[in-house]
Amino acid sequence: MSLVHRPRRLRRSEKLRAMVRETRLAPEDFIYPLFVCGGEKIRKEVSSMPGVFNLSIDEAVREAESAAELGLKAVILFGLPESKDETATGAYIRDGIVQQAIRAIRRAVPELLIIADTCLCEYTSHGHCGVVREGEVLNDETLELLAKTALSQAAAGADIVAPSSMMDGQVGAIRDELDNNGFDQTAIMSYAVKYASAFYGPFRDAADSTPSFGDRRAYQMDSANAREAIREAELDYTEGADILMVKPATVYLDILKTVRDRFDLPLAAYHVSGEYAMIKAAAAKGWIDEQRVMLETLTSIKRAGADMIITYYAKEAAKAVRA
Ligand code: PBG
Repeated sequence: MSLVHRPRRLRRSEKLRAMVRETRLAPEDFIYPLFVCGGEKIRKEVSSMPGVFNLSIDEAVREAESAAELGLKAVILFGLPESKDETATGAYIRDGIVQQAIRAIRRAVPELLIIADTCLCEYTSHGHCGVVREGEVLNDETLELLAKTALSQAAAGADIVAPSSMMDGQVGAIRDELDNNGFDQTAIMSYAVKYASAFYGPFRDAADSTPSFGDRRAYQMDSANAREAIREAELDYTEGADILMVKPATVYLDILKTVRDRFDLPLAAYHVSGEYAMIKAAAAKGWIDEQRVMLETLTSIKRAGADMIITYYAKEAAKAVRA
């Protein structure tokens, strides 16, 4: 029998497979999240996220150094403030936990890109991502606080601010505030397409940001909607986002591909806490090969169209893919 096409010819050896491989992972693809808390010499593991820690600033600096040594180029910072209030004061004060961490990491590891997550939920007493009145999260009142937060992060030295609260108009409000204060070079990575997801559960343990009442469905997107993702991305594009993001990643690969095909901006995907925790849990039981599942998962995210991936696996993945 003569078969004209035999795709197996190019799968015969690792050399052949490597030559025709369409998607490759590299350390610079990954963005490493850090959770920064007060105190000193604190390295407290998050129970639902093995290998992820609440870090005091000195420890966060060490973690940033080790990330840079592994070839990672960027970290994204989340803060655990000493105290919380109704108006999220800790998010935008000059000496807020994230602002201090930005300065310390900038000093110790100047080559690392520093991204600051711009949200209020870690800083509000009720755990919602904005100002609450009569049980509702108010959009336009929240924009002012988000703009202040982004400005304070830029002033502390963040290269990129990343608004994640899903308030309408947040990118435009932040762009205005930055430009009016001399920070026209600070970039905005917008969590443009962020779904209300059960996969954020472990993050809320890590960042202590579970809402005290209700949930986030009145501002984050309904997981059933795909067309709406295009509208959200379009709005942020128009308001001046420099980088778009889709979140979570693996259960929204269709959305990632659609946003990739429709927009020419760089695209980020957030491989979120629950996606990480599920792999960790199955691996701990000996049910899957952790390294292979990790790499296959990250490859799928890149193959679907992500230019960069925020992942708690950043260090392990960088180690695995380094030449
Ligand atoms: C802040 C924020 C959240 C995540 C990133 N930024 C939590 C949320 O929206 O509830 C989730 C990240 C993760 O699950 O890893 N709003």
